[in-house]
Amino acid sequence: MKKTVLSGIRPTGDLHLGNYFGALKNFVRMQDDYDCYFFIADYHSLTTHPTPDHLRFNTRRVLANYLAAGLDPKKCTLYIQSDVPQVTELYLFLNMNAYLGELERVTSFKDKVRLQPQNINAGLLTYPTLMAADILLHNADFVPVGKDQEQHLEMARTYAKRFNTLYKTTFFKEPQAFNFGENLVKIPGLDGNGKMGKSEGVSNAIFLGEASDSIRKKVMRAVTDSGPTSPNQEQPEVIKNLFQLLSVVSTPDTVAHFNEAYNNCTIRYGDLKKQLAEDMIAFTEPFRQRISDLLADEHALDTVAAEGAEKARASAQKTIDAVRSLIGF
Ligand code: TRP
Repeated sequence: MKKTVLSGIRPTGDLHLGNYFGALKNFVRMQDDYDCYFFIADYHSLTTHPTPDHLRFNTRRVLANYLAAGLDPKKCTLYIQSDVPQVTELYLFLNMNAYLGELERVTSFKDKVRLQPQNINAGLLTYPTLMAADILLHNADFVPVGKDQEQHLEMARTYAKRFNTLYKTTFFKEPQAFNFGENLVKIPGLDGNGKMGKSEGVSNAIFLGEASDSIRKKVMRAVTDSGPTSPNQEQPEVIKNLFQLLSVVSTPDTVAHFNEAYNNCTIRYGDLKKQLAEDMIAFTEPFRQRISDLLADEHALDTVAAEGAEKARASAQKTIDAVRSLIGF
Protein backbone atom coordinates (compact mmCIF):
# COMPACT_ATOMS: atom_id res chain seq x y z
CA MET A 1 0.00 0.00 0.00
CA LYS A 2 1.23 3.43 -0.91
CA LYS A 3 1.59 5.95 1.91
CA THR A 4 -0.70 8.96 1.80
CA VAL A 5 0.63 12.49 1.41
CA LEU A 6 -1.57 15.54 1.81
CA SER A 7 -0.98 19.22 1.27
CA GLY A 8 -3.22 22.24 1.34
CA ILE A 9 -2.63 25.74 0.06
CA ARG A 10 -4.74 28.81 0.62
CA PRO A 11 -6.24 30.31 -2.57
CA THR A 12 -3.47 32.83 -3.12
CA GLY A 13 -3.94 33.29 -6.84
CA ASP A 14 -0.88 32.75 -9.01
CA LEU A 15 2.08 30.85 -7.61
CA HIS A 16 5.66 32.07 -7.82
CA LEU A 17 9.05 30.47 -8.35
CA GLY A 18 9.43 30.08 -4.58
CA ASN A 19 6.27 27.95 -4.46
CA TYR A 20 7.46 25.97 -7.44
CA PHE A 21 10.95 25.09 -6.27
CA GLY A 22 9.93 24.87 -2.63
CA ALA A 23 7.06 22.43 -2.93
CA LEU A 24 5.28 22.13 -6.23
CA LYS A 25 8.15 20.56 -8.12
CA ASN A 26 8.41 17.96 -5.36
CA PHE A 27 4.67 17.30 -5.46
CA VAL A 28 5.00 16.51 -9.15
CA ARG A 29 7.72 13.97 -8.35
CA MET A 30 5.71 12.41 -5.52
CA GLN A 31 2.61 11.62 -7.54
CA ASP A 32 3.91 8.22 -8.62
CA ASP A 33 5.17 7.02 -5.27
CA TYR A 34 2.47 8.21 -2.92
CA ASP A 35 -1.27 8.40 -2.74
CA CYS A 36 -1.40 12.20 -2.96
CA TYR A 37 -4.12 14.60 -1.92
CA PHE A 38 -3.55 18.22 -2.94
CA PHE A 39 -6.27 20.69 -2.19
CA ILE A 40 -7.02 24.39 -2.11
CA ALA A 41 -8.03 25.52 1.37
CA ASP A 42 -10.73 28.02 0.48
CA TYR A 43 -12.67 27.62 3.74
CA HIS A 44 -9.53 28.72 5.54
CA SER A 45 -9.61 32.10 3.78
CA LEU A 46 -12.73 33.03 5.70
CA THR A 47 -10.75 33.10 8.95
CA THR A 48 -9.04 36.28 7.82
CA HIS A 49 -11.34 37.48 5.01
CA PRO A 50 -15.01 36.88 5.84
CA THR A 51 -16.04 38.40 2.50
CA PRO A 52 -13.09 37.41 0.31
CA ASP A 53 -12.61 39.23 -2.97
CA HIS A 54 -12.12 37.07 -6.03
CA LEU A 55 -12.31 33.82 -4.06
CA ARG A 56 -13.41 31.74 -7.03
CA PHE A 57 -10.94 33.44 -9.34
CA ASN A 58 -8.00 32.91 -6.98
CA THR A 59 -8.97 29.31 -6.36
CA ARG A 60 -9.10 28.59 -10.07
CA ARG A 61 -5.75 30.25 -10.59
CA VAL A 62 -4.09 27.99 -8.04
CA LEU A 63 -5.70 25.01 -9.72
CA ALA A 64 -4.45 26.16 -13.13
CA ASN A 65 -0.95 26.74 -11.73
CA TYR A 66 -0.91 23.25 -10.18
CA LEU A 67 -1.96 21.65 -13.44
CA ALA A 68 0.48 23.73 -15.47
CA ALA A 69 3.30 22.64 -13.15
CA GLY A 70 2.55 19.01 -13.89
CA LEU A 71 0.16 17.73 -11.25
CA ASP A 72 -1.86 15.07 -12.98
CA PRO A 73 -5.45 14.57 -11.82
CA LYS A 74 -5.23 10.98 -13.04
CA LYS A 75 -2.42 10.28 -10.60
CA CYS A 76 -3.31 12.42 -7.61
CA THR A 77 -6.46 13.72 -5.97
CA LEU A 78 -6.62 17.42 -6.70
CA TYR A 79 -9.59 19.18 -5.14
CA ILE A 80 -11.08 22.29 -3.62
CA GLN A 81 -11.74 22.09 0.13
CA SER A 82 -15.26 23.50 -0.06
CA ASP A 83 -16.23 20.80 -2.57
CA VAL A 84 -15.76 18.24 0.21
CA PRO A 85 -18.14 19.34 3.00
CA GLN A 86 -17.31 16.19 4.99
CA VAL A 87 -14.38 18.18 6.34
CA THR A 88 -16.77 20.46 8.23
CA GLU A 89 -18.27 17.54 10.08
CA LEU A 90 -14.88 16.24 11.15
CA TYR A 91 -13.96 19.81 12.14
CA LEU A 92 -17.03 19.87 14.40
CA PHE A 93 -16.12 16.59 16.06
CA LEU A 94 -12.50 17.62 16.58
CA ASN A 95 -13.57 20.99 17.97
CA MET A 96 -15.51 19.24 20.73
CA ASN A 97 -12.18 18.00 22.03
CA ALA A 98 -10.05 21.04 21.23
CA TYR A 99 -9.33 23.14 24.29
CA LEU A 100 -9.41 26.89 24.45
CA GLY A 101 -6.08 27.05 26.28
CA GLU A 102 -4.15 25.11 23.69
CA LEU A 103 -5.74 27.00 20.80
CA GLU A 104 -4.93 30.35 22.36
CA ARG A 105 -1.28 29.37 22.68
CA VAL A 106 -0.83 28.77 18.93
CA THR A 107 1.75 31.17 17.49
CA SER A 108 -0.17 31.86 14.27
CA PHE A 109 -3.26 32.75 16.33
CA LYS A 110 -1.30 35.12 18.53
CA ASP A 111 0.16 36.76 15.42
CA LYS A 112 -3.30 37.20 13.91
CA VAL A 113 -4.61 38.70 17.13
CA ARG A 114 -1.95 41.34 16.75
CA LEU A 115 -2.60 41.83 13.02
CA GLN A 116 -6.39 41.87 12.97
CA PRO A 117 -7.55 42.90 16.46
CA GLN A 118 -10.88 43.97 14.98
CA ASN A 119 -11.74 40.44 13.87
CA ILE A 120 -10.60 37.76 16.30
CA ASN A 121 -13.21 35.17 15.43
CA ALA A 122 -13.74 31.57 16.47
CA GLY A 123 -12.71 30.37 13.01
CA LEU A 124 -9.33 31.98 13.48
CA LEU A 125 -8.98 30.39 16.88
CA THR A 126 -9.86 26.97 15.49
CA TYR A 127 -7.81 27.30 12.30
CA PRO A 128 -5.60 24.42 13.52
CA THR A 129 -8.67 22.23 14.08
CA LEU A 130 -9.85 22.77 10.52
CA MET A 131 -6.36 22.00 9.27
CA ALA A 132 -6.27 18.84 11.42
CA ALA A 133 -9.63 17.88 9.91
CA ASP A 134 -8.16 18.34 6.40
CA ILE A 135 -5.34 15.99 7.25
CA LEU A 136 -7.22 13.38 9.27
CA LEU A 137 -10.07 13.30 6.75
CA HIS A 138 -7.83 11.18 4.51
CA ASN A 139 -5.80 9.72 7.36
CA ALA A 140 -2.65 11.13 5.78
CA ASP A 141 0.71 9.62 6.70
CA PHE A 142 2.71 12.63 5.62
CA VAL A 143 2.24 16.36 5.32
CA PRO A 144 4.98 18.48 3.75
CA VAL A 145 5.15 21.57 5.94
CA GLY A 146 7.32 24.60 6.24
CA LYS A 147 8.46 25.96 9.59
CA ASP A 148 5.37 28.14 9.94
CA GLN A 149 3.05 25.13 9.81
CA GLU A 150 4.91 22.75 12.13
CA GLN A 151 2.90 23.71 15.17
CA HIS A 152 -0.34 23.13 13.26
CA LEU A 153 0.81 19.66 12.26
CA GLU A 154 1.75 18.94 15.85
CA MET A 155 -1.81 19.81 16.81
CA ALA A 156 -3.18 17.46 14.17
CA ARG A 157 -1.19 14.71 15.90
CA THR A 158 -2.56 15.81 19.27
CA TYR A 159 -6.13 15.63 17.97
CA ALA A 160 -5.54 12.25 16.35
CA LYS A 161 -4.14 10.84 19.59
CA ARG A 162 -6.85 12.43 21.69
CA PHE A 163 -9.59 11.03 19.48
CA ASN A 164 -8.03 7.57 19.60
CA THR A 165 -7.77 7.69 23.38
CA LEU A 166 -11.26 9.06 23.98
CA TYR A 167 -13.03 6.66 21.69
CA LYS A 168 -10.75 3.71 22.45
CA THR A 169 -9.60 3.21 18.90
CA THR A 170 -6.49 3.21 16.74
CA PHE A 171 -8.39 4.68 13.80
CA PHE A 172 -6.39 7.84 13.22
CA LYS A 173 -2.75 7.76 12.25
CA GLU A 174 -0.46 10.45 13.60
CA PRO A 175 0.54 12.46 10.54
CA GLN A 176 4.24 13.11 10.19
CA ALA A 177 6.09 15.97 8.54
CA PHE A 178 7.36 15.07 5.09
CA ASN A 179 10.86 16.29 4.62
CA PHE A 180 11.96 17.08 1.07
CA GLY A 181 15.59 16.90 2.18
CA GLU A 182 17.93 18.00 -0.56
CA ASN A 183 15.02 18.54 -2.91
CA LEU A 184 13.93 21.55 -0.92
CA VAL A 185 15.28 24.54 -2.79
CA LYS A 186 14.94 27.88 -1.05
CA ILE A 187 14.25 30.73 -3.43
CA PRO A 188 15.16 34.22 -2.26
CA GLY A 189 13.07 37.25 -3.13
CA LEU A 190 14.19 40.07 -5.38
CA ASP A 191 14.32 42.65 -2.61
CA GLY A 192 17.51 41.18 -1.22
CA ASN A 193 16.27 39.85 2.05
CA GLY A 194 14.50 36.65 2.89
CA LYS A 195 12.57 34.30 0.72
CA MET A 196 10.39 34.88 -2.29
CA GLY A 197 6.87 35.53 -1.15
CA LYS A 198 3.79 37.46 -2.08
CA SER A 199 3.32 38.93 1.37
CA GLU A 200 6.68 40.65 0.99
CA GLY A 201 5.15 42.56 -1.94
CA VAL A 202 4.44 41.40 -5.50
CA SER A 203 7.61 42.99 -6.82
CA ASN A 204 9.55 40.56 -4.65
CA ALA A 205 8.24 37.51 -6.48
CA ILE A 206 8.25 36.18 -10.04
CA PHE A 207 5.05 34.33 -10.86
CA LEU A 208 4.78 31.23 -13.03
CA GLY A 209 2.25 32.96 -15.25
CA GLU A 210 3.89 36.37 -15.29
CA ALA A 211 4.25 38.37 -18.51
CA SER A 212 7.78 38.77 -19.92
CA ASP A 213 7.85 42.55 -19.64
CA SER A 214 6.85 42.43 -16.04
CA ILE A 215 9.56 39.85 -15.28
CA ARG A 216 12.16 42.09 -16.96
CA LYS A 217 11.08 45.12 -14.96
CA LYS A 218 11.12 43.31 -11.63
CA VAL A 219 14.47 41.65 -12.19
CA MET A 220 16.13 44.86 -13.36
CA ARG A 221 15.00 46.49 -10.11
CA ALA A 222 16.38 43.70 -7.91
CA VAL A 223 18.60 44.91 -5.08
CA THR A 224 22.39 44.71 -5.54
CA ASP A 225 25.42 46.32 -3.92
CA SER A 226 28.11 48.54 -5.41
CA GLY A 227 30.18 45.60 -6.63
CA PRO A 228 33.26 43.64 -5.54
CA THR A 229 36.45 45.61 -4.89
CA SER A 230 38.96 42.83 -4.36
CA PRO A 231 39.33 39.46 -6.10
CA ASN A 232 37.48 36.42 -4.75
CA GLN A 233 35.80 38.34 -2.00
CA GLU A 234 32.85 36.76 -0.28
CA GLN A 235 29.48 37.69 -1.75
CA PRO A 236 27.09 39.69 0.41
CA GLU A 237 23.62 38.22 0.94
CA VAL A 238 21.92 40.26 -1.82
CA ILE A 239 24.40 39.03 -4.42
CA LYS A 240 24.27 35.43 -3.21
CA ASN A 241 20.53 35.68 -3.68
CA LEU A 242 20.89 36.75 -7.32
CA PHE A 243 23.26 33.86 -7.95
CA GLN A 244 20.85 31.47 -6.26
CA LEU A 245 18.08 32.63 -8.61
CA LEU A 246 20.42 32.31 -11.55
CA SER A 247 21.33 28.77 -10.54
CA VAL A 248 17.73 27.54 -10.79
CA VAL A 249 16.88 29.01 -14.20
CA SER A 250 20.19 29.35 -16.06
CA THR A 251 22.74 26.90 -17.41
CA PRO A 252 25.79 25.98 -15.30
CA ASP A 253 27.95 27.76 -17.89
CA THR A 254 26.10 31.00 -17.36
CA VAL A 255 26.43 30.72 -13.60
CA ALA A 256 30.15 29.96 -13.93
CA HIS A 257 30.62 32.93 -16.26
CA PHE A 258 29.12 35.42 -13.80
CA ASN A 259 30.88 33.85 -10.85
CA GLU A 260 34.18 34.34 -12.61
CA ALA A 261 33.29 37.93 -13.44
CA TYR A 262 32.44 38.50 -9.79
CA ASN A 263 35.68 36.94 -8.63
CA ASN A 264 37.85 39.07 -10.90
CA CYS A 265 35.79 42.19 -10.20
CA THR A 266 34.66 42.74 -13.79
CA ILE A 267 31.03 41.88 -13.13
CA ARG A 268 28.33 44.25 -14.29
CA TYR A 269 25.16 43.55 -12.38
CA GLY A 270 23.11 44.99 -15.24
CA ASP A 271 24.37 42.18 -17.48
CA LEU A 272 23.68 39.58 -14.86
CA LYS A 273 20.16 40.84 -14.38
CA LYS A 274 19.47 40.95 -18.11
CA GLN A 275 20.56 37.36 -18.41
CA LEU A 276 18.60 36.36 -15.30
CA ALA A 277 15.45 38.01 -16.67
CA GLU A 278 15.75 36.28 -20.06
CA ASP A 279 16.41 32.90 -18.44
CA MET A 280 13.45 33.35 -16.10
CA ILE A 281 11.27 34.22 -19.06
CA ALA A 282 12.42 31.10 -20.91
CA PHE A 283 11.94 28.96 -17.83
CA THR A 284 8.41 30.19 -17.11
CA GLU A 285 7.31 30.25 -20.78
CA PRO A 286 5.68 26.78 -20.77
CA PHE A 287 3.93 27.54 -17.46
CA ARG A 288 2.65 30.86 -18.74
CA GLN A 289 1.28 29.20 -21.84
CA ARG A 290 -0.45 26.36 -20.02
CA ILE A 291 -1.89 28.60 -17.32
CA SER A 292 -3.49 30.90 -19.86
CA ASP A 293 -4.83 27.96 -21.88
CA LEU A 294 -6.31 26.40 -18.75
CA LEU A 295 -7.90 29.61 -17.55
CA ALA A 296 -9.41 30.17 -20.97
CA ASP A 297 -11.17 26.82 -20.81
CA GLU A 298 -13.76 27.11 -18.00
CA HIS A 299 -15.07 23.67 -18.70
CA ALA A 300 -11.73 21.87 -18.44
CA LEU A 301 -10.99 23.35 -15.01
CA ASP A 302 -14.52 22.59 -13.80
CA THR A 303 -14.10 18.99 -14.89
CA VAL A 304 -10.80 18.63 -13.06
CA ALA A 305 -12.32 20.13 -9.91
CA ALA A 306 -15.42 17.94 -10.15
CA GLU A 307 -13.45 14.74 -10.64
CA GLY A 308 -11.08 15.62 -7.82
CA ALA A 309 -14.01 16.40 -5.53
CA GLU A 310 -15.59 13.06 -6.27
CA LYS A 311 -12.44 11.13 -5.37
CA ALA A 312 -11.87 13.22 -2.25
CA ARG A 313 -15.46 12.84 -1.10
CA ALA A 314 -15.29 9.07 -1.42
CA SER A 315 -12.22 8.93 0.79
CA ALA A 316 -13.69 11.50 3.20
CA GLN A 317 -16.99 9.71 3.56
CA LYS A 318 -15.26 6.53 4.71
CA THR A 319 -13.62 8.49 7.49
CA ILE A 320 -16.83 10.21 8.49
CA ASP A 321 -18.74 6.92 8.58
CA ALA A 322 -16.10 5.37 10.83
CA VAL A 323 -15.87 8.42 13.08
CA ARG A 324 -19.64 8.70 13.49
CA SER A 325 -19.90 5.10 14.46
CA LEU A 326 -16.95 5.33 16.88
CA ILE A 327 -18.54 8.30 18.64
CA GLY A 328 -21.89 6.53 18.76
CA PHE A 329 -24.10 8.16 16.18
N1 TRP B 1 -2.40 26.36 6.78
C1 TRP B 1 -1.78 26.05 5.54
C2 TRP B 1 -0.99 27.29 5.04
O1 TRP B 1 -1.36 28.38 5.36
C3 TRP B 1 -2.76 25.63 4.49
C4 TRP B 1 -3.45 24.37 4.87
C5 TRP B 1 -4.75 24.23 5.21
C6 TRP B 1 -2.84 23.09 4.97
N2 TRP B 1 -5.01 22.92 5.49
C7 TRP B 1 -3.87 22.20 5.36
C8 TRP B 1 -1.54 22.62 4.74
C9 TRP B 1 -3.60 20.85 5.57
C10 TRP B 1 -1.29 21.27 4.97
C11 TRP B 1 -2.31 20.40 5.37
O2 TRP B 1 -0.04 27.15 4.33
